[in-house]
Amino acid sequence: MPDFLTIHEIIRQAKRNLDQGSWDYLVGGADSESALRRNRAGVDSWVFKPRILNDVSEVDTASEFLGVPMRIPVIMPPIGSIQVFEEGGAASVAKAVQEFGIMQILSSVCSPAFDELPNIVDGPRIYQLYLVGDEAWMDDIIERTIAAGYKAFCLTADTQTYSRRERDILKRYVPLSGRIASGNDGGGGFQGGQSKMSWETVAHIKEKFDIPLIIKGVGVAEDAARCVEAGVDVVYVSNHGGRQLDHTRACIDALPEVAEAVDGRVPVVVDGGFMRGADVVKGLCLGADFIGMGRFEGLAMAAGGTEALLTALKILEHEIKTTMALAGINSLDQLTPSLVTREQPLAPPHVLGAFPFLAEGY
Ligand SMILES: Cc1cc2nc3c(=O)[nH]c(=O)nc-3n(C[C@H](O)[C@H](O)[C@H](O)COP(=O)(O)O)c2cc1C
Repeated sequence: MPDFLTIHEIIRQAKRNLDQGSWDYLVGGADSESALRRNRAGVDSWVFKPRILNDVSEVDTASEFLGVPMRIPVIMPPIGSIQVFEEGGAASVAKAVQEFGIMQILSSVCSPAFDELPNIVDGPRIYQLYLVGDEAWMDDIIERTIAAGYKAFCLTADTQTYSRRERDILKRYVPLSGRIASGNDGGGGFQGGQSKMSWETVAHIKEKFDIPLIIKGVGVAEDAARCVEAGVDVVYVSNHGGRQLDHTRACIDALPEVAEAVDGRVPVVVDGGFMRGADVVKGLCLGADFIGMGRFEGLAMAAGGTEALLTALKILEHEIKTTMALAGINSLDQLTPSLVTREQPLAPPHVLGAFPFLAEGY
């Protein structure tokens, strides 16, 4: 594996390793891809108001998520078909996050499956399920999730139906996850379960099962508040990386109202357009407890599996610590909205806009 020193180089390697179909599946979004671009523009539009003369000789990025120690406040979100980018799939991610010291959320539409992965790599980890069967089918999977030792169970609420990914459609590319989601397991496809998901599903899970429940795909304060009232244990702000409903707000712009509605009662996670350490710090300032980085995860996997993801996480940690130190901050609890303000974004609103030197051929 090349000696990566920047995330730039990791992305460049990922592009070299992937064919056009897999590359577009990874970096692309839904319809016109405006939600995808807005996620980046949103992150870019927040700038720091640094403080000075704080001792930053030690910068502490450690925290706990659902009782699990986290080396940096970052999680690796569910990525369907991740085995397309590197053959080890979710197991390769698991090895990297376990060695580094953060958590992954395993997608139900990738391999290895949720009940195989614990036999390959120890946890802790979280399981995200797309409902493709009826309630009895879901209950059975939740029981098996608990038995397999997962720390939490996640439902993705922004995907009640599969969106139109035009990059894929134009090439007649069928992502593996699309095939699995409409076929196996419960036999019902998205119509059989995911599209019927409702607040009653949440109530049912909370009543019947003793496992923390994460709702991923929250976009407004009202739904965030309702999640907390319904007993949801983690509120996850996401627009699926701009891959589902097009023309949404940037997730970082939905974050402040969600954080206000949640008011510290449960952890808040956000993802969408976060690609670098500075991005992570901005999300934390605006009220998130943890940042998800989906394409970061997929690109690192494509660049070189476990080793590349581990390297990417170490670079990310260095970036987070450097950003915090230069902003005059030495611990996560000092990251507040007063440290950022809005300005006109400068970078083009592109999925890889955080890496300007790629366009210059580096
Ligand atoms: C290739 C790919 C596959 C994904 N598969 C899933 C999935 O199976 N389940 C899910 O909840 N989210 C899935 N997502 C969304 C991610 O979990 C996450 O919300 C998104 O990537 C965050 O945006 P970012 O890529 O800008 O960080 C996927 C994203 C990508 C890029």
